[in-house]
Amino acid sequence: MKARFAPVILLCALTLTSSGIASAADPSATDLVTFNSHIAPIMHERCASCHRPGQAAPFSLLTYEDVAKRAQLIRVVTQTRYMPPWHAEPGYGEFKGERRMLDAEVELLAKWIEAGAPEGHGTPPELPTFNAEWALGEPDLVIRMTEPFTIPADGPDIYRNFPARIPTSEHKWVRAIEFRPQARTVVHHSLFKADPSGRALDIDARDNVPGYKGMGNTQLPGRISLSGWAVGGGARVFPEDAPIRLPAGSAFIFESHFHPSGKEETEVSAAALYFSDKPAVRSRVSISLPPRFGIGAGIDISPGDRDYTIGESLTLPAPVELYGVTPHAHYIGKEFKAWAELPDGGEMPLLWIKDWDFAWQDMYVYAEPVVLPAGATIRSRITYDNSVENPRNPSSPPKRVYWGRGSEDEMGTIIFSALPVSENDTKAIRQAVRALTQKHTRQAAQYLKARRQASRSSL
Ligand code: HEC
Repeated sequence: MKARFAPVILLCALTLTSSGIASAADPSATDLVTFNSHIAPIMHERCASCHRPGQAAPFSLLTYEDVAKRAQLIRVVTQTRYMPPWHAEPGYGEFKGERRMLDAEVELLAKWIEAGAPEGHGTPPELPTFNAEWALGEPDLVIRMTEPFTIPADGPDIYRNFPARIPTSEHKWVRAIEFRPQARTVVHHSLFKADPSGRALDIDARDNVPGYKGMGNTQLPGRISLSGWAVGGGARVFPEDAPIRLPAGSAFIFESHFHPSGKEETEVSAAALYFSDKPAVRSRVSISLPPRFGIGAGIDISPGDRDYTIGESLTLPAPVELYGVTPHAHYIGKEFKAWAELPDGGEMPLLWIKDWDFAWQDMYVYAEPVVLPAGATIRSRITYDNSVENPRNPSSPPKRVYWGRGSEDEMGTIIFSALPVSENDTKAIRQAVRALTQKHTRQAAQYLKARRQASRSSL
C-alpha cells in the first residue's frame, strides 16, 4: 500500500515546488505581483525620466508611497496610453527613444492595482541614478540665454524665442547638441535654430523684455534647424557624415514653450554644442510636405468642421535616407499621417499620429534611417478638428481658422530630415524640393491676397 501511494505524494510535492519557483521567475504564473519585485523596475524605466524631483512632471513616481497613493489614476493613464506621453502609432515607423510601455507591462500594472497594490517583502529596489553632467562629455561650446526669463506662477502657456550670439569667428560643423533647462518644471520643449542673418537679435532688442513672441521664426530667411528637445528627451546626435554647418556670426535661437507650474520660475536655458573636425560629406535636405508650414495650402477651416484635410506629396528623383520627421500644427491639428509609395507598388509607413497634442512638439528620429529609392512618392495628410467636440479647440464657440503665426491660427506640415544616399544626387533632390516650394509660394501669394481683399470688403 505504502509503495503505491508514495509516488503520488512525491508528485504533489514536486508540483508545489515547481510552481513556487515559477512564481518568482515569471509573475504571470501567480497572483502575487508586488511593487518591490515587479512594479518598481517598470516605474523607474518608463516614468522616472520625468516623474522625479525637479523634472517636468507634476509629481514623483519613484517610491512605493509615490505610486501606491496614485494607483487608480496610474491605471487609467497607462491603459488609455495617455502616459508615458508618446504620440506616434506603434508599428507605423520605428523610432529611437520610443516612450511606450509593453502591453504586458500595462497588464501587470493593472493586475497589481487590482490586488490592492501590495508592496511586497524585502528591500525596495534602489532608486535609479541620473547623470548630472553633459551626457556626451565636455562640450566644445555652451550657449546660454543672455538674460533670465521669468515664467509666472499661472496663466496661459508661453511660446517665446531667445536669441544669443554664437561666439565663433569661423564656420563650425555641429555633430551633436544637448539641451539643459534650468527651471525643469516649466520648460516643456525647445527647438534650436541658427540665424545666419543675426536679425533675431535685432527683433529681441526692440523692447526690454527678454526674447520675443511666436513660433517657427518663419520671418528669418536662411534659418537653420538644429533639432530640439522636449520633456524627457536626451542629446541629439546627427549622422556622422552629415554634421550641420553653423555659419560664423550666427545667432543661436531657443524657441521655447513654457507651461506655468503654479510657482514662479526663472529660466536660463543652456545648449552644449559638439563640433566635428570633418565637414559634412553628405548635405542635409529638408523635405516639408506641404512646404513653408502650409502657408500655400489654402488653410480655411469653417467652425464645426471635424475633418478638414491638407496634404502634399513629392516624388524623389534619386534615393534618399530619412533620419527624422517633425510634424507641426497648432491646437486644432488632429491627425498626421505620412507614408511613401514605392515604385514596386509597396508602401512604407513613415509616421502616424492619431491624436495630435500641440504641447508635444517632438522630432521623431528613426531607429534606422529609412531608405527610399528613386521614384518613391512621399505623401502627407494632416487633418484638423474645428468642432466643439475637440477638447483642445482654443475657441469656444469655434471660429473660422486661417494660416497664421499665432497659436490660435493654424499651420500644418510634416518635415523630413533627409540625406541623399549619394552626395552626387543632392542637386537633383534640392531641385525637386525647390519646385514644390515655388508652387506653394505662388499659391500663398494668391491666398494672402484673397484674404486681404476679404478683410477689406468686410470692413
Ligand atoms: C516624457 C515625460 C513623462 C514620462 C516619461 C511620463 N510622464 Fe506622466 N506626466 C508628464 C507630464 C509633463 C505630466 C503633466 C501634464 C499632463 O498631464 O500632460 C504628467 C502627468 C501624469 C499623471 C497625471 C495625469 C492627470 O490627468 O492628472 C499621471 C498619473 C502620470 N503622468 C503617470 C505616468 C506614469 C505611470 C508614467 C510611466 C508609465 C509616466 N507618467 C511617464 C510627463 C511624463
